[in-house]
Amino acid sequence: PYECFTALRTESGPVSYNERGKFWEVFEYDDVLALASDHETFSSDGSQFVEHPDQMVKGQSVLTTDPPRHRQLRSLVSQAFTPRAIASMAARIAEITHNLLDQVAWQGAMDIIADLSYPLPVIVISEMLGIPSEDRAQFKHWSDQMVVSEYEDLSRDNIEEYNKRVRTIMRQTLDELYDYFRQVLAERRLQPRHDLVSALLAAQIEGESLSEPDILAFCALLLIAGNITTTNLIGNALLCFDEHPEAMEQLHARPDLIPQAIEEVLRYRSPALLVGRYATRPIEIHGQTIPRGQLIIGWLACANFDQVQFPQPERFDIERTLNRHLAFGHGIHFCLGAPLARLEAKIALGILLERFQHIRRERTQSIETIRSVFIMGPKHLPVTFRAR
Ligand code: HEM
Repeated sequence: PYECFTALRTESGPVSYNERGKFWEVFEYDDVLALASDHETFSSDGSQFVEHPDQMVKGQSVLTTDPPRHRQLRSLVSQAFTPRAIASMAARIAEITHNLLDQVAWQGAMDIIADLSYPLPVIVISEMLGIPSEDRAQFKHWSDQMVVSEYEDLSRDNIEEYNKRVRTIMRQTLDELYDYFRQVLAERRLQPRHDLVSALLAAQIEGESLSEPDILAFCALLLIAGNITTTNLIGNALLCFDEHPEAMEQLHARPDLIPQAIEEVLRYRSPALLVGRYATRPIEIHGQTIPRGQLIIGWLACANFDQVQFPQPERFDIERTLNRHLAFGHGIHFCLGAPLARLEAKIALGILLERFQHIRRERTQSIETIRSVFIMGPKHLPVTFRAR
């Protein structure tokens, strides 16, 4: 990833206009940081600037709102994500991880993605939301559909046609996803339970309840954005350790280094590649004036290799200090699920390294990665191991 993201940055200069996509791109750490955190200059709410608001956007989540609405939504949903609430899930996360590993321990071989890193976050978030985790094949299908840049068969030369197809696929997927959650909401209205969906239905902001589209948008965000990224974090960690066997050895001997190693994985193989914002006024960046209303993409993955911020960025160093990576974004939109993702990765990797030795990627197969402009991670990661 280092070569790839450094080339992207050096070839484009610090800021460039993407003619085909009709958006701007920034790559350097300071610029990406400013884009993510200066919410007055850079808005997360595209609906006020895009000429034909996409019918696809139904309801608003924290991700696509600016203050004051963002503050209201975030204060409501963050109640379920307090450090205490997340820490209380540790025992259950460990139990799920053990159950998943029990199923493959006897084989001496597993696919890290299918057997561990996909099911774990899906089961956790399903239990939080109060939906049956047995529906996870369906959730996976929706997640795959939303990562629509996978549709390689569409001619990239015809960007208009491509964008149209992408929007259609995303709209269909969201329709299905929303229908699913509408049913859950109807059930919880009749019979509230101790789950996130019931809590969202009961929640009030200044005497006002969340609208149904807002709740649907948030549930969809958790189910898609939260899961796929956490799956990639665990998969990317194993990829990094496989490329750097000395790191794997060190972690076997010093599991206390796992949290620091996870931060380095987040920097080195960022699961979410970019954030997008709209300029709320004409803004000059490195001598280029970006007009009001234009979309600007900030490449988190490139910023995480900026040598001004990270000495020897090409080195994967699990003992790196002052690792202020931007993998979870920055500012008011800083990832709400970061403590949960970090906890799941810490527990999953800790138990994996404790129970299994000699974890090696199967060399007979090349690494197949997800082809997406938004996210990065392996599709499958077959490994062999020796259970202790
Ligand atoms: C926001 C990455 C896991 C829920 C974000 C943002 C990034 C990100 C970069 C900022 C987007 C922006 O500024 O426009 C990641 C990565 C994850 C992860 C790399 C895993 C390694 C999760 C999980 C959940 C979650 C597990 C929930 C279960 C959210 C929410 C937001 C968000 C709700 C929007 C916050 C806001 O706009 O105020 N995430 N995420 N994420 N993430 Fe995550």
